[in-house]
Amino acid sequence: MTYKSTIYSPTDAILKEAAQRLLQGYLVAMPTETVYGLAANATDDRAVARIFALKERPSFNPLIVHVESLEKASNLIEMTGLARRLAEAFWPGPLTLVGKRSPSSDFAPSLLCSGGLKTLAVRVPAHPVAQHLLRLAGVPLAAPSANPSTKLSPTSALHVQQGFPEAEDLWILEGGDCTQGLESTVVDITGETPVILRLGTITAENIEEAVGVKPLYYKDIEETHTIKSPGQMLKHYAPDKPMRLNAVDVKPGEGLLAFGSQNIPAASVIYNLSETGDLLEAAQNLFKMLHLLDTENVSGIAVMSIPQEGLGLAINDRLTRTQS
Ligand code: TXA
Ligand code: MG
Repeated sequence: MTYKSTIYSPTDAILKEAAQRLLQGYLVAMPTETVYGLAANATDDRAVARIFALKERPSFNPLIVHVESLEKASNLIEMTGLARRLAEAFWPGPLTLVGKRSPSSDFAPSLLCSGGLKTLAVRVPAHPVAQHLLRLAGVPLAAPSANPSTKLSPTSALHVQQGFPEAEDLWILEGGDCTQGLESTVVDITGETPVILRLGTITAENIEEAVGVKPLYYKDIEETHTIKSPGQMLKHYAPDKPMRLNAVDVKPGEGLLAFGSQNIPAASVIYNLSETGDLLEAAQNLFKMLHLLDTENVSGIAVMSIPQEGLGLAINDRLTRTQS
């Protein structure tokens, strides 16, 4: 088997170049202590769209943003007292905190990273190669597990290479076998009680021991309705305005979310996902433009049809799903 992606031993020179590639918008697979991550500059919408394209994810699941320190994390999300205690106990390590995005930040991750949500998942990985790369890149790195969407999470550089044999531009940094081998525990810290959204090597007991608060598990909350808005934290972003899909015309009062350059109906407010019909560009613009249309003086959003192929699958998934 020949591979077009390349595994590099993480020397100082290679790490420097890998950091440069990230800043240029390329993807780099990096080892973490949990699983290998497919990293992109989180502040660059186009680079983040490339993650979804390469993984062939049929939906825009929100991604985890990686930073090298608690200090950097606290620039990105609102660190409540509880969040700080959790971070001090487990970072660097296999814990992801989902918090409210900070209002202002020089390195704000793109909306595509968080699937349009106002929350953001942040983690400080412990692996020295990930740490080194983050420091050199100087930007937060969005990184889902580095596997095609239907495959197992990779715990070695070779797994990543086998998963993406055709990815010519992909650099894979060798970091040995992952010591944890299981994805990080994801905890929502937007409320007073931590809520576990995904179980990992850090358990509910570990969390309770560390911070003296018993975390909830999101499935239990959904069943017992003990909080006001069960499953609220799991909701995906949907615009407040009604959307009309596969529109070929625009009704009075509607704004238009267009695609391509053909058969664009007249409208007073038009945002075009991609005039050239480029699905990567459309993915890059999707949440930004939906948010913009939501703030415009329009009563609804007419959306032109998007081809059901490649990234178009994820775009259509997001458009057709209202709140799930
Ligand atoms: O160990 C890990 O966490 C690995 C390494 C590479 O860091 N990353 C990873 O990423 O597993 P991914 O994209 O495969 O999983 C991200 C998880 C998903 O379950 C997603 O739903 C959740 O985090 N998540 C991300 N952002 C969220 C948000 N704003 N609200 C709720 N859940 C979120
Ligand atoms: Mg995954």
